[in-house]
Order: sequence, then structure tokens, then C-alpha cells
Amino acid sequence: MGEQRAQFRAMQEGTAEDWGIISSHFRPFAKELPDRIIKHLQLLDGDFGGFPIDRLEHSLQTATRAHRDGRDEEYVICALLHDIGDTLGSYNHPDIAAAILKPFVSAENLWMVEKHGIFQGYYFFHHLGMDRHLRDQFKDHPLYQYTAEFCAKYDAPAFDPDYESESLAFFEPMLRRVFEKPRNSIYKME
Ligand SMILES: [Fe+2]
Ligand SMILES: [Fe+2]
Repeated sequence: MGEQRAQFRAMQEGTAEDWGIISSHFRPFAKELPDRIIKHLQLLDGDFGGFPIDRLEHSLQTATRAHRDGRDEEYVICALLHDIGDTLGSYNHPDIAAAILKPFVSAENLWMVEKHGIFQGYYFFHHLGMDRHLRDQFKDHPLYQYTAEFCAKYDAPAFDPDYESESLAFFEPMLRRVFEKPRNSIYKME
């Protein structure tokens, strides 16, 4: 016997029984989200893009710096994932990380991840003929300092080929804890 499938050909015809079947598949699938995230982070391995270290190492180094500086798990995982969107969001990579993290992290950490691209630009936009002060549009925002600090202390310094970062395996238990249960989602998860 094959696996149970919903019977509708259009959602308009869906029944509670159909949705019971779909829900029973959703939960185990959702539980494997951390595994898919790890696989996706691994796509950044060997992807240098001209930088001194590859994007996986940059992610590990950013997270390691935050962890060694005493940041909590949620912050460290935001640091680990902040550039995960580099593969699919070539023109808006912070939005990808923010979308993945959104159900699981605080509004503060979410804003920090979402805006890190603009704040990080302070360190290089001027080399590309752009305005390094683009972040100043958020000067009066309560999370300006919080986000500027993320870039200054962890993201911007995390290009050092001689830095000894922790491995992806080291962060895996933290990642699983942060992604254990969504705190904000329109979908119910018992
Ligand atoms: Fe980034
Ligand atoms: Fe980064």
C-alpha cells in the first residue's frame, strides 16, 4: 500500500479528511527543517565570490565570534544564518535569512538580520561608488546600535583566513533548539 494522499483535484473540493492526511505529513517534514538548513549552509562551502574565505567559513566565523563574545543561542544562530540567502537572493540576500528565521526569533534579531546588508555596507559601499552611510536612514531607530554592533563586532571582522572557527557540527544542537518550535506562525503547531 502506498502512502496516503489527499483526494482533491482542486482545493475547493478539500475535506477535513484530506487535510488530516496532509497535516500528518506536514509535522514530520517541518521537524526536518534544521536538516534542510544545514544542507543549504553547506552549499556555501567553497563559494568564495572573490572574498578571502568562502561563504560557509564566513558564516561559521561570524557565529563563532558572536558565541565567544557571550551572545545567546538565538543571536548566534542568526549570525550563522545571516548570509544563507547568498545562493538564491543574489540581490536581496538578507531577506532570505530573515524569512527563514522569522517564525523562530525575536523582532529585534529579525530586524538585525533583515537590515544587516545595509549596515554592513558602511564597510564597503564607498569602494563601489555607493553611499556608505545608507544605514543612516535608520539613525533614530531603536535597533540602529544593535544592528551596527552586529556588523562591527561579528560580520565585518569575519573574513580572517587565520581565525579558528567552530565547525557546523558545533552549532547544530543550537540550531535544532532555536528551530524547535515556531513562536510566530499563522499555522498551528502542537
Ligand atoms: Fe550579508
Ligand atoms: Fe556576512
